[in-house]
Amino acid sequence: MSALNVLGLFAGIGGIELGLERAGMCVVGLVERDAWCQKVLTRHWPDAAFHPDVVTAPKWWDSEPRPRVHVVAGGFPCQPFSTAGKQKGTLDERWMWPEMADVVRAVRPDYVLVENVAALVRDARAWGTVLADLHRLGFDAEWSTLSANQFGAPHIRERVYLVAYTARSHVPYPHESASPWSVELEPRGSGWEHGRAAWLPEPPMDRVAHGVSRGVGESELHALGNAVVPPIFEHIGRRVMAHAAARIAS
Ligand SMILES: C[S@@+](CC[C@H](N)C(=O)[O-])C[C@H]1O[C@@H](n2cnc3c(N)ncnc32)[C@H](O)[C@@H]1O
Repeated sequence: MSALNVLGLFAGIGGIELGLERAGMCVVGLVERDAWCQKVLTRHWPDAAFHPDVVTAPKWWDSEPRPRVHVVAGGFPCQPFSTAGKQKGTLDERWMWPEMADVVRAVRPDYVLVENVAALVRDARAWGTVLADLHRLGFDAEWSTLSANQFGAPHIRERVYLVAYTARSHVPYPHESASPWSVELEPRGSGWEHGRAAWLPEPPMDRVAHGVSRGVGESELHALGNAVVPPIFEHIGRRVMAHAAARIAS
């Protein structure tokens, strides 16, 4: 099966896109407004179309001939829901799911992948809006709250991961009793759960993003702190690829 094309929104330093690429997908477009993150993205994906603002992304994508997008993926800013913030939710000006939904509406992918802090799911208005918008756009959705240490990282970083697929594309998985997106729930290999007092820093930094290069300096800690753990999206990406292949075969 040929690769699925990905348009990455709120791409940061590309944690989601790196995982999806490792699963065999092809990153064809990236949207990110932070200047330092832009340098990382354009260096790693020089052939992908690039744009700095999700708000104007529908017009930008439509402005010239583009490859078909199979997957729109993104972790919109989590500050409106973060337990470390004021938790203004959908009233926060950084609530940017509506802008992501506008891109989905314009691009019409087969899959939408969303990552965010677990607190998003507990905000009924916000989570309800995400699910209702996806339904209106013709998608079914499944989600799980996963921790990075389930994928071998030495830290928790609990996040919600949503996979939405066009309703017409549902295919049963005869050999699987659980959801096609399910993962092993036993932590694998990190050792974190065996009495480490704190998460293990990647020297010389004091934050970690398992699977992301160590070669970044102090000034990039913010982007690294925001970044997704790529092995989680590699796993999700493989499941999406299998789903797409099964859909074609059925
Ligand atoms: C939670 S971080 C995403 C982290 C990313 N998934 C990664 O693995 O590095 C959210 C990102 O959205 C970006 N952002 C916020 N508003 C934006 C906008 N209007 N257009 C494009 N990017 C935006 C921020 O600069 C930030 O990098």
